[in-house]
Amino acid sequence: MGSALPHDLRCDHRTTPLGVAGAPLLAWRLEGADPVAYQVEIGDLWSTGRVDDPAAISHLYDGPRLRPRTRHTWRVTLWDAAGSTSSAESWFETAHDAWTASWIAPDPDAVEHVDPPTEGDRALSAHGLLPCPQLRRSFQAPAAVTAARLYVSAKGLYDARINGQRAADAELAPGWTDYRRRIPYQVHDVTRLVGEGENVLAFTIADGWWSGFTGFDPRRPGYHYGRFPELIAELHLTLANGSARVVMTDGTWRTTQGHIRHGDLLKGECHDLRATTPGWDSPGFDDSSWSPVTVRGADHRLLVPSCDEPVRALRELPPLSITRTGPRTHLVDFGQNLAGRVRLAVPAQDPGTRVTVRHGERLEDDGGLHTANLRTADATDVLITAGVETLFEPRFTYHGFRYAEIDGLESLGEVRAVVLHSDTRWTGVFECSDPEINQLQSNIEWGQRGNFVSVPTDCPQRDERLGWMADAQVFLPTACLNADVAAFFTKWLRDVRDAQTPEGGFPNVAPRLTGVAEEGAPGWADAGVLVPWHLYEVYGDARFLDVDSMGAWLGFVLRHNPDLIWRQRTGPHYADWLAPGPATPREVVATAFFHRSADLTARAARVRGRHADAERFERLAADIRTAFIKTFAHPDGTVSGDTQTGYLLALAFGLLPSSLAPGAARRLAELVEEHGPQAGFLGVNLLCPVLSATGRPDLAHALLRRTDPPSWLYQVRHGATTVWERWDGEGAPSMNSFNHYAFGSVGEWLYSGVAGIGQARGSVAYRDLVIRPLPGDLTWARASYESVRGRIAVSWERTSQGFVLDVSIPPGASATVHLPDGQTHRVPSGDHHFASVRGDTP
Ligand code: BGC
Repeated sequence: MGSALPHDLRCDHRTTPLGVAGAPLLAWRLEGADPVAYQVEIGDLWSTGRVDDPAAISHLYDGPRLRPRTRHTWRVTLWDAAGSTSSAESWFETAHDAWTASWIAPDPDAVEHVDPPTEGDRALSAHGLLPCPQLRRSFQAPAAVTAARLYVSAKGLYDARINGQRAADAELAPGWTDYRRRIPYQVHDVTRLVGEGENVLAFTIADGWWSGFTGFDPRRPGYHYGRFPELIAELHLTLANGSARVVMTDGTWRTTQGHIRHGDLLKGECHDLRATTPGWDSPGFDDSSWSPVTVRGADHRLLVPSCDEPVRALRELPPLSITRTGPRTHLVDFGQNLAGRVRLAVPAQDPGTRVTVRHGERLEDDGGLHTANLRTADATDVLITAGVETLFEPRFTYHGFRYAEIDGLESLGEVRAVVLHSDTRWTGVFECSDPEINQLQSNIEWGQRGNFVSVPTDCPQRDERLGWMADAQVFLPTACLNADVAAFFTKWLRDVRDAQTPEGGFPNVAPRLTGVAEEGAPGWADAGVLVPWHLYEVYGDARFLDVDSMGAWLGFVLRHNPDLIWRQRTGPHYADWLAPGPATPREVVATAFFHRSADLTARAARVRGRHADAERFERLAADIRTAFIKTFAHPDGTVSGDTQTGYLLALAFGLLPSSLAPGAARRLAELVEEHGPQAGFLGVNLLCPVLSATGRPDLAHALLRRTDPPSWLYQVRHGATTVWERWDGEGAPSMNSFNHYAFGSVGEWLYSGVAGIGQARGSVAYRDLVIRPLPGDLTWARASYESVRGRIAVSWERTSQGFVLDVSIPPGASATVHLPDGQTHRVPSGDHHFASVRGDTP
């Protein structure tokens, strides 16, 4: 097996991050033998010394305050039982601590609406969309540049360029937060772009979430946070002659209206190439005809370094087919519903030729694009050509689509769908003998890609795209298996806390947006507790657990519901949203989540060493449970309302005593047998896990493989390439998205149920595993998961001899392996092979 090897070193859940603030968590994954001890050191600044801990996979830095804007190289060394050592090295750079740059923007009074070239554009311009300003500054570097770091943010979105080249691969930066609370900045290593002599630092900025169209509230469709975009940047240069130089945004910058006539997340983007200013982002350009910028202050209080990876263009898809639908119109099918945009090579046209790209997830019966479900999101990109061939790709918008209708060209050049999402490294693979379930897994993964765009959104296509908290909460366990989302959710939890009211209330959506119902609904607001707890269990980072914030939430619900049945202050109470069957009583849903939040907050308080608080919350959880039983549970185990979600919540959250739980489980099974799945957003993630935990994996499998509506495979059979908002895809177009991941939360059970990769109760960071494959009538399944500790893999197959199972357990972990024939084995780390001759009992 070799020695204990650390690999994949991460700092605050990212690889070699720039802009680390505070005391970072330094973490590594394990390969090879079990370690017995570790040491982490940062040069001669700090060392943990040898720490005897066979399970450790991270250490929270506890040395002296780290110098800002500095690269720190760190090393982890592991010892194994044989006494051999091995080590690995990585680095991170610390954040800026003293901004001096100013916020700059074009003079708002001088910004003009450009005359819309056509009727169609007039409609867009009626929304008040303005051109995206270009801003530039040239500067001299008196010597060769040995290091250059660009610290940059915008109220709005920015695209940075240096000497004619893009300075970073971040898209839609700085990302979305409640900018009234915090404004993230990014740090880009731009050393390779800057040289001795004249250099140019240049930006285009756009409205983005700051002042563009966001969400759906008709009273306030745009301008949620401000009216015009602004920019702030500092470029720090280290020169070969030993000196340093800082170039920053200030009153010396020049600006003009660029050729991007508007760029809006929902409406789309328009480029008029007749208005380009060639060379504007390179040395030697004369900007004397440009206007001076206005300085919009130098308030740096809200600037914080980004703690997540940015959105990036992470894939490109070629068309599956291109159909000519008119003399100058083509319909492109990319074969996959996705979030991103179209990049189009446009052959030379007459100057002023107008090319329009419209997007849709589906086609109408007559073959046209289905756009009714976009609501007010026009999702239309426009190019006005200047007579030369061009590559057209919008920069400040994204769309949810599978199809693009391209109008205005007799023939198309190369077309690609550019897939955008927050860059979360993929960690999971699941496949099995049923190709339709594999398609479901693919649909779930694409739903994750399409909806992890700076925040976890409900959907990427219509005028919504909000950080709905229940959607995120139910999908999180699936998301954590598919990808390493620790940094992504670190950022989003800050959005959640920023949105918490002074009274302690969590919202329904984070980041907070004016106009959307402020008060959180049961199961939505509770994500403020459920999400951090799950992240802690998966990643082992106790910093996720903000006990004060969780406790404030409980305090809020308790104050308004002293009898412990949560009826008051339930916000818009969405109940079990989009459940196809009878409605679960609202108080059952609400009180179950009240209990769940109290229970998890108590556990969080224990982890954080807040034992008095833990006891208080434990008592609260116990009292809520008693009230729940008294009010809603009946002697035969039925729960008021007699609905699937009622039973799912009661059983999953441990609300019923052992005398009642079996009756509830029986009734759940009856309802599932009779009706198929009837859970909505708040119950769907629990369906298969609860059925299998209560002895009915056969029913969980029956649901998984069901093809009549409502079912997952009904969608697959009807051509879905992402998971739909509604089980059957039927409903008013205004609420019928075809890329909504909530019902994709069954993905967790594909790994934990079908393949059998799970954690034991009480285990954190995959130290104690339960491997319990549930084969149903599948013939094989394989899954692997790059856990925070190291690789876990399961592969099983039914052969003519019986059931064969191969398992890999990462170093420092152990597992209980349950075979379908009832055999149980306790195994250490390493690779293990099992066979059972009878093997067919699920
Ligand atoms: C969103 C959902 C969300 C819900 C609240 C919808 O408009 O698309 O996914 O959770 O509102 O019920």
